[in-house]
Amino acid sequence: MLAELFLDASRACHVHSPLTHTLLVAAADDLARGGITARVMAGAECDRKGTVPGFRFAGALHRLVLEGRVPTLSKHYPTAGGKPDLDTLWDDVLPVLHEHTDELHSLITSTVVQTNEPGRNAPLFGGLQTATHLAADEAGRRATFPIRLLEVGASGGLNLRPHRIAYRVDGGTVGDPGSPFTLDPRWTGRPPVDFSHNLRLVRRAGCDLHPVDVTRESGRLHLSSFVWGDQPARFARLQEALELAQLDPVPVQQATGPEWLADQLARPERDVLTVVWHSVVWQYVSPADRAMGRSILADAAARATPMAPLALLVYEPRRTHMADRYEFQLLLKLWPAGISLRLGTGVGHGIPFTWDTQPWN
Ligand SMILES: C[S@@+](CC[C@H](N)C(=O)[O-])C[C@H]1O[C@@H](n2cnc3c(N)ncnc32)[C@H](O)[C@@H]1O
Repeated sequence: MLAELFLDASRACHVHSPLTHTLLVAAADDLARGGITARVMAGAECDRKGTVPGFRFAGALHRLVLEGRVPTLSKHYPTAGGKPDLDTLWDDVLPVLHEHTDELHSLITSTVVQTNEPGRNAPLFGGLQTATHLAADEAGRRATFPIRLLEVGASGGLNLRPHRIAYRVDGGTVGDPGSPFTLDPRWTGRPPVDFSHNLRLVRRAGCDLHPVDVTRESGRLHLSSFVWGDQPARFARLQEALELAQLDPVPVQQATGPEWLADQLARPERDVLTVVWHSVVWQYVSPADRAMGRSILADAAARATPMAPLALLVYEPRRTHMADRYEFQLLLKLWPAGISLRLGTGVGHGIPFTWDTQPWN
């Protein structure tokens, strides 16, 4: 039942977003009583849990707030300069649901929940530095390799510019000091190589089942609307990443990961380190696509040479030895060197992150 899915979603944001939590609990109650929320959500009654109808509902309302069209509701949203009053929130939501029923309904039924977290650039930056140094050591080169970065599940492609960000580390800046996008990566430990030089990314490409075109206002609003309205720091980070993307556009192709990867990896490239990267994607990929992806990567790994090396770099949640707990791990495999490392662990958004290199089996 839809009301139960809303309550499920409310539990998922209980700690990090009291605003969304309160909104979804009240909306679930309204749904159960057949109120206006039921009309807004009409047609979504049989949606799968994985499509998170509650977050689509919250995202659609947030979008109206960000467009500046519902001032009486915006006053509750820190992302629009407001301050939440959880006791009166639902009273201010109701008139918006009545006034914008059809528009909200069409937004909710035509979109998928879509996020793109630019904080993950920080572990990516350190991971790429590590990969290119290790590949150069293996090839007996003095200079590190330029990198071809291939991202599966790239969303809006906001993690395709890790070399164009200013990272505040050890009281200084690494990366691109002139960037409009600054990250404090809050690292414990450091990458196991010299990361003070900027990376050379000579080619970048990404694919996604549902790519978001961040060169368009509608794409930027789409991604912004799925950041919870009481997470202004995360929202500000996204806006900086979107600004950088305007200056340095990289298109994301609409494709399923394995097919796209097979095409991209068809020929090894000499004097370039090819890095296949994905973050918080694996859980959404079907078993058949996972198997195909592994096989395509194994074929490409078999063709890799010291002067045309291949790396797999991933930032994904993995179950810890405490059975019900997950941590996000940065994992690196490098061919033909046969190196396989867990570089460190962090949280979902990539910041903070702890560097701690261990063998990965
Ligand atoms: C949680 S988002 C993460 C986006 C981005 N990697 C990041 O870290 O911000 C997961 C993304 O994976 C994409 N995705 C899921 N399955 C996919 C597949 N088989 N092929 C390509 N993209 C896929 C989704 O469309 C979505 O954009």
